[in-house]
Amino acid sequence: MRLGATIPNFTAETTQGRIKFYDWLGDSWAVLFSHPADFTPVCTTELGRIAVHDHEFKKRGVKVIAHSCDKLRSHTDWVNVRHQIVLSGYSRRLSLPIIGDEKRELAVLLDMIYEDSKDNEEAALTVRALYIIGPDKKLKLSMQYPASTGRNVDEILRVIDSLQLTTRLKVVATPANWTPGTKVMILPHVKDEDLPKLFPKGVEKISMPSGITYVRTTTDY
Ligand code: BEZ
Repeated sequence: MRLGATIPNFTAETTQGRIKFYDWLGDSWAVLFSHPADFTPVCTTELGRIAVHDHEFKKRGVKVIAHSCDKLRSHTDWVNVRHQIVLSGYSRRLSLPIIGDEKRELAVLLDMIYEDSKDNEEAALTVRALYIIGPDKKLKLSMQYPASTGRNVDEILRVIDSLQLTTRLKVVATPANWTPGTKVMILPHVKDEDLPKLFPKGVEKISMPSGITYVRTTTDY
């Protein structure tokens, strides 16, 4: 699962019925994320947080699908008894599908397991893998967290914003700790003479100690 790899067109059973991945994805962006197990506290907060931000994913045209190696029945029990709401205080219903991968085939196919349990069929816990997939079905960004560390949904939305912006503009990249509306970096291969046409509202050139002007920023996007 290297960046740029094409996600295979897998078939999966989900809490919302069987899906063929490409049909489900359509022309959208997608977040596919695994959690280690149902009825566990950190996973509960993650699903709760994602439910709270449901409209943020929709606004960005991003479909979200969850995964674990539990049985489908376990997923539906977990969601139906609304443990995520009781535990995390989020008063939202979960609208996303959850893949039931009890044979852990998808977990293996998509590289979502620990190194030391990859050949052990009994070890069903996945890591907290999260893949952002483009409309071209290619992997754009990958995060892998251990079971001990819950993910930050604000960071997931931030990197989606970066990916969508840089895909649209092609000649910029977002700097460390970037947030939407703040300065972006112009890629080094862009010629100075092309800047006025590309960014009519202006570009700032930063003087560097080396004397080489390779840091050029803009908020014109
Ligand atoms: C949790 O979600 O709380 C969790 C799941 C598996 C291992 C450790 C923590």
